[in-house]
Amino acid sequence: MEYGKEIAKVLITEAEARKRIAELADQINRDYEGKEYTVVVTLRGAVMFFADLFRQLTGNVDCDFIAVSSYGATTSTTGEVKMSKDLSSPIKGKHIIIVEDIIDTGITLSYLKKMFSAREPASLKVCSFLDKPSRREVEIEGDYIGFTIPNEFVVGYGLDYDQKLRNLPDVCVLAPEVYGG
Ligand code: PRP
Repeated sequence: MEYGKEIAKVLITEAEARKRIAELADQINRDYEGKEYTVVVTLRGAVMFFADLFRQLTGNVDCDFIAVSSYGATTSTTGEVKMSKDLSSPIKGKHIIIVEDIIDTGITLSYLKKMFSAREPASLKVCSFLDKPSRREVEIEGDYIGFTIPNEFVVGYGLDYDQKLRNLPDVCVLAPEVYGG
């Protein structure tokens, strides 16, 4: 797809994403065969990835949603995260997979893992579409990762710049002029 000058380049095409998501779904379908489990989606960025992944999960699976956001520029390694919407159902005794769009500093995921662990699920795993390990401030890893990416400002496929550009079908690198980088 052709984009305007706010996009520096396409990093992951829609077709590449689709192919990789099919592989992730295969892996999850194998690992969770015969198990009942819940996919927990973090709003808002992960919704596109979730929608594509979820349709390829074949097992006994349901979904729930949580909304969290980090404190932006003031975020420090203390891991301050604000929750604006909690899960709709208890997770005690359930097998849970957290679905994220990106693991960046790791602060959001570490907050979620701590909070969910305290609710005593049967198991807790993480599936993230993107991973940017070079930005990590908290030591944490996902169990299922779509793509490991370099330290570039990515938008599209759910990921935003100032709440915009989430609707782009590909994962793109934002032109540095846009954010003053
Ligand atoms: C993004 C993304 C992850 C988090 C990753 O969410 O969806 O949840 O940041 O960053 P971290 O590893 O540095 O914590 P954001 O708070 O921007 O909200 P959004 O999903 O609504 O865009």
